[in-house]
Amino acid sequence: MLEGEAEAPSNIAIVKYWGKRDVSLNLPLNDSLSISLDALKVTTKVLFDPALSKDEVKVNGVKISDEEVKSYASRVLDKMREISGKRIYAKVESWSNFPSSAGLASSAAGIAALTLASSDALGLDMNLKELSKVARIGSGSACRSMYGGFVIWHAGVRDDGEDSFCEQVFPHDHWKELVDLIPIFTEERKRVSSRKGMGISVETSRLMKCRLEFIRDTFPLVLDSIRDRDAEKFFEMTIRHSNSMHAIMMDSFPPLVYLNAMSLKVIDRFGDGKTAGYTFDAGPNPHIFTLRKDVEAVENSLMELGAIKVVKSSVSAGPRLGMKHD
Ligand code: ADP
Ligand code: DP6
Repeated sequence: MLEGEAEAPSNIAIVKYWGKRDVSLNLPLNDSLSISLDALKVTTKVLFDPALSKDEVKVNGVKISDEEVKSYASRVLDKMREISGKRIYAKVESWSNFPSSAGLASSAAGIAALTLASSDALGLDMNLKELSKVARIGSGSACRSMYGGFVIWHAGVRDDGEDSFCEQVFPHDHWKELVDLIPIFTEERKRVSSRKGMGISVETSRLMKCRLEFIRDTFPLVLDSIRDRDAEKFFEMTIRHSNSMHAIMMDSFPPLVYLNAMSLKVIDRFGDGKTAGYTFDAGPNPHIFTLRKDVEAVENSLMELGAIKVVKSSVSAGPRLGMKHD
């Protein structure tokens, strides 16, 4: 029996991935940059068993439908079977350290943990760069969860995706003052998945071209702000990159509106970028970056706005292998 276990952090993108140049390999239109989060982690155990006739996945005790398994986890497992030459199906069990009902995306961490656990189970000697390419095929944003700290996903230009991988640009302890506050305003699940939504945007948004230019022009500024630990510049860039993606969503047809009235209140409250910078993925709950000295004030402000609770996260050191059960 081939067994492996691994833990991986979730990540939040500052420069966002929204649009693919290749759907089957998850090749993005732009480079993206994220921060791995130590408060949001997923642990995955994988067991390759010759007695199985298909891959089976459970997340927090709930069985994932065969169709969903095929579109996410099996893409990783297929690649690992191809690399190892072992044509055995797997049973996957995964747990997040936060409730899945909180509306916090867990697929990136889950797919990254699955990639690491299955490479270990199959005895494959793969480096993080190679692992990031496999995780990417499962779900694009998952490739950034293969590293801790501040991570770049290079879009690459090749059709085979061999130059579309991640690397760490700054380690987890580079900017110790930085904290991510994640207020939970709603536990509603989003209506349109990121995968489907970004497909609609690529097909219909005329502003997409302009956003890709904005990303090319400002990527160096985002990196500078992190390198220099320049909080105000970083908050401004964080806000503008989030807004840029949500402008594309709104410009899509039919329009994609992931923000709600609470989200707009957050934008109104923190939009000056003085003490904090917000960023939203494809959902209404923000991630709010601030400095440790301002955490209490920002947290109080979020509770006043109506947050049910506020999750606090530092930068994660990255994924790790768990115990091997022989
Ligand atoms: P997102 O994280 O982008 O919001 P979802 O949580 O809806 O997306 O997950 C999308 C798909 O990712 C799920 O349908 C499931 O197939 C897969 N997935 C999510 N979490 C895991 C996990 N821990 N292990 C394996 N597959 C997962
Ligand atoms: C808004 O990685 O979930 O979170 O590659 O189709 O699985 P697939 O999409 P996914 O999209 C994430 C989009 C985002 C922005 C980001 O994380 O960069």
